[in-house]
Amino acid sequence: MKILIADSFPASHSESLVRAGHELTIKPELDGGSLPQAIQTNEILIVRSTRIDENTLKQARELKLIIRAGAGTNTIDKECASSLDISVCNVPGANSRAVAELVMGLILSIDRQIPSNVMDAKQGLWNKKKYSTARGLAGQKLGILGMGAIGFAVAERARGFAMGVYALSKPGRSPDAENRITSSGIIQLDTQDELLKTSDIVTLHMPATETTRRMVNREFLSKMKRGAMLINTSRGDLVDEEALVDAMNSRGIRAGLDVYNNEPGASENTFKSQVFAHPSVYGTHHIGASTEQAQIAVADGVLAIVEAYINGKLINQVN
Ligand code: 3PG
Repeated sequence: MKILIADSFPASHSESLVRAGHELTIKPELDGGSLPQAIQTNEILIVRSTRIDENTLKQARELKLIIRAGAGTNTIDKECASSLDISVCNVPGANSRAVAELVMGLILSIDRQIPSNVMDAKQGLWNKKKYSTARGLAGQKLGILGMGAIGFAVAERARGFAMGVYALSKPGRSPDAENRITSSGIIQLDTQDELLKTSDIVTLHMPATETTRRMVNREFLSKMKRGAMLINTSRGDLVDEEALVDAMNSRGIRAGLDVYNNEPGASENTFKSQVFAHPSVYGTHHIGASTEQAQIAVADGVLAIVEAYINGKLINQVN
């Protein structure tokens, strides 16, 4: 089977595909400009965040399956893929721990101002006074919006730091999820307003959909406590960045962000963004899932999808 890998992928797993007899092309550098040409004769495309648009799909004459090596599929035109009879499958859950670890890293970074400490240190500055203002995490209230695999992984870690963890109650949650919430000591609140008013830190773990797009708007931010933290490691589309900049300037909101409006699709690029550069933001480079452990777990999931496809089955189809 001809398979194109258009993003980084563990060598151990691409070797497995070759050993299984597949004809592999590995081109992590492909982008919207070069992908349509490269994809033409391939039956399977394995991809991370590289954008797959209508133009690419229409040139992909042999393509039957796109495997998103990760969870979010907002970068793939699924509607167009469906109309061309191309299946899209993803690997949800495999990178949850990695994202949750980054969430804790961002929270600790903001509370202790670790990146600023380090930047001053590199300049030869010693400023124990300036950096002795952290509040500490124990007893702080963390509101989690989105109680999927990542939300739970964040909750478990936050409880390890003795934080109070809050989530929204949701009618129709499975008994398993309900038990897990209760036994993890997560307190459920009925409304988002309550959660925003209660939380010292709000972390977003929702997919980008028409409903969640720009959900963090002026109204949302105005309900957060003064000086509260906003953590976003999900999708940049969830946040109205202009409103966030205003809230940071006027209400002392601090943000830990891994994702942005119009962030680059390529893994190396320049990026000008009003929030990336803002002094109240510690911003990372959409690296939530980019640990070796997570990428191996995701690649295991990709191989399972390829094998199932060969046997006439689709795992985790999203279109
Ligand atoms: C995901 O959707 O799985 C994460 O956001 C990771 O995306 P990436 O594979 O492009 O790093």
